[in-house]
Amino acid sequence: MADAPPPVNNEIPLLYADRYNEICKKFMETFGTEPSFYARAPGRVNLIGEHIDYCGYGVLPMAVEQDIVIAVSTNNTNKLRLANADQKYRQFECSVDDYEIDKNSPQWFHYFLCGFKGMCEMLGLSRPTGMECIVDGHIPCNAGLSSSSALVCCAALATMQANGSTRSKKDIADMCAACERYIGTQGGGMDQAISFMAEAGTAKKIDFNPLREMSVSLPGDVVFVVSNCCVEKNKAASSDFNTRVVECRIASQIMAKSKGLEWRQFRRFADLQGCLGLGLGDMMGVVGAELHPGTYSKPEVCQILGVTPEELAETSLSPNTLHVQAFQLYDRAMHVYGEAGRVEEFRAICDTSGASLTLGGLMNASHDSCSRLYQCSCAELDELVALCVKSGAIGSRLTGAGWGGCAISMVPREKLGDFLERVRREYYEPRGLGAAVNEALFATQPGSGAAVYLAK
Ligand code: GLA
Repeated sequence: MADAPPPVNNEIPLLYADRYNEICKKFMETFGTEPSFYARAPGRVNLIGEHIDYCGYGVLPMAVEQDIVIAVSTNNTNKLRLANADQKYRQFECSVDDYEIDKNSPQWFHYFLCGFKGMCEMLGLSRPTGMECIVDGHIPCNAGLSSSSALVCCAALATMQANGSTRSKKDIADMCAACERYIGTQGGGMDQAISFMAEAGTAKKIDFNPLREMSVSLPGDVVFVVSNCCVEKNKAASSDFNTRVVECRIASQIMAKSKGLEWRQFRRFADLQGCLGLGLGDMMGVVGAELHPGTYSKPEVCQILGVTPEELAETSLSPNTLHVQAFQLYDRAMHVYGEAGRVEEFRAICDTSGASLTLGGLMNASHDSCSRLYQCSCAELDELVALCVKSGAIGSRLTGAGWGGCAISMVPREKLGDFLERVRREYYEPRGLGAAVNEALFATQPGSGAAVYLAK
């Protein structure tokens, strides 16, 4: 599966005909020609396993139906002409070999350029074909449903198709995870992996290094519901995300050093675990023995590792975390090892009893850990998660990077109507968000992965 290329379909499914026709119309209005194909990449919702992919641990997401579609025609003028179906996003044009990706204040087309650049490098194209593109995004932005990664993936897929090449889903996903870092966020690869490897009807356990996927059947007596707390967080525009990545890196380096290992070689908790040959529970024991709760100042970290602040910048920091003066290492490490264990348990239960009560318990524990130990929630999201549980969810947790965005809840099928009604009444209405509720609160099921549709 993962070794196959993304499918290229001759027909647009009937269900989507109206939307694609609409995009085609806009395309003709904008560029005066018809698109020759459409690339599509879905967003995702992560059921469990938050902030652990970049530490080397497996996660358990599924694709959502909401996606990015890019309509494409090729040209021989060496120009990349990008428009967005949503008028609030400005058009952009550049030469195929002369553009910059702005890390400091990225705009929508910079994500396109990440995927474009990454694919050109992967295919070794110095003179890629020019393209006209219209991007039509249906994934809410900054909501933790991976709209940015879907755009990067979709642009990479469009570029591959336009240049008449194919690569495996796995290789494209790996490349997209790497090229999104042109924007500066050091994500772990979950979003790109599921966008390409998703299959309708099944969630996926995704493991890294090397990238692999495994289908996970979800229990039939529950429905998964996404609810957006409507606090937006743009992870590329703040250093919170990379600060967590860096805290995890420093924590694994300090533990490696105290175990007499060559600490500079360690960047991820999973590598340290592999090297020590211990189980996840034992690793929590190592955290307890080698790290202290509370804050580490930068001078303390430097003193423990025996480096100057300049050397620390080299060994452990990212460009947008150079200013960070205080690091929480113990809590972050406890979260990661605990969460990695919950993912394994979740998958094992799905494979055996499918007992939804136990799965829900793991989701609740995951949220608690994200909120208290990883501190990647916010007041509104905590409130929404608590309300979801009160409204009948067996389990509820933040999903995606956090600090805002969405929760995912596991709701008994027969309680779905009451659940939606109560969450609407008690979260959305009092905030005057009643009009947004259909886009913010919805049941979802595992959708399919990225694909190309040829235009007739
Ligand atoms: C973002 C990143 C992912 C992952 C999640 C948190 O979506 O892109 O790689 O780290 O946050 O689980």
